[in-house]
Amino acid sequence: MTDIVVLGSTNMDLVAYVEKPPQRGETVTGREFRTVPGGKGANQATAAAHAGGAVSIIGAVGNDSFGARLRSTLEHAGVNTDHLRTVEAPSGTAHIVVDDDGGNAIVVVPGANGTVDHLAPGDEGLIASADALLLQLEVPLAAVVAGARAARAHGVRTILTPAPARPLPPELLDATDLLVPNEHEATALTGRTDPHEAAAVLLDSVPAVVITLGAAGSLYAARGAEPLTVPAPRVTAVDSTGAGDTFVGALAVALGEERPVREALAWAAAAAALSVQRPGASASMPYRSEIETRYAS
Ligand code: RIB
Ligand code: NA
Repeated sequence: MTDIVVLGSTNMDLVAYVEKPPQRGETVTGREFRTVPGGKGANQATAAAHAGGAVSIIGAVGNDSFGARLRSTLEHAGVNTDHLRTVEAPSGTAHIVVDDDGGNAIVVVPGANGTVDHLAPGDEGLIASADALLLQLEVPLAAVVAGARAARAHGVRTILTPAPARPLPPELLDATDLLVPNEHEATALTGRTDPHEAAAVLLDSVPAVVITLGAAGSLYAARGAEPLTVPAPRVTAVDSTGAGDTFVGALAVALGEERPVREALAWAAAAAALSVQRPGASASMPYRSEIETRYAS
């Protein structure tokens, strides 16, 4: 089994499903409302656990009902929450509008996630025992950097999702083994709109990159290797929230099992494709058997 530690956010996603999102000053009537556990960290943890990894999460929830539900949902998915602190703050929330094309717009209010600005006692030991550390940017950068450095010091593979997009300090890039931006994040980081060009620029800073391209699949580039484009299965999206997180969680499991990169990317794409066909972030993440079936078809 691949041992995975995720250092990152937990949010309660408050999701309104609408035909068309409102413009500024406009009110629209939604069709449906759901509260679904999310947050990029918890999503990646759930995706990896469903995909067959042995997963622990480092982070924080608030001392409120959302926090209790976020914790129990992770535990139900089989994620070890011993390093998920409960703090005196509201839980993180994400206010999401999903439109009829399955696309979304999101406001994140960090709450408890904002307290994750350092490694707590025991966190480094946990990281040291993993095959891979998964990182995103919904907790303070100081913790992300500390986590990446701890992983690097112990020879643990670091996989960074640079989302939400922001400039990355050199000390973080120096400790990143695999960077997984989407197209927009890749452009924000490099100023290049062409994914191949963006990947080439990013390889100056990290040894390997996967740029996720939505329905078009993904582009893998590594120093000294030919770039690889791997298509995604053709599906109709109802809610793409957390699709990137599903991709990364499944990818980390497959890479930990030492599957060839092309196969790992196709497997992760199958997982993401399944997730966009169902509503909700964590609620839509497929189990290993479903991924295998989709991958084989
Ligand atoms: O990546 C998707 C996640 O981003 C959502 O679950 C939401 O919580 C936001 O943080
Ligand atoms: Na989904």
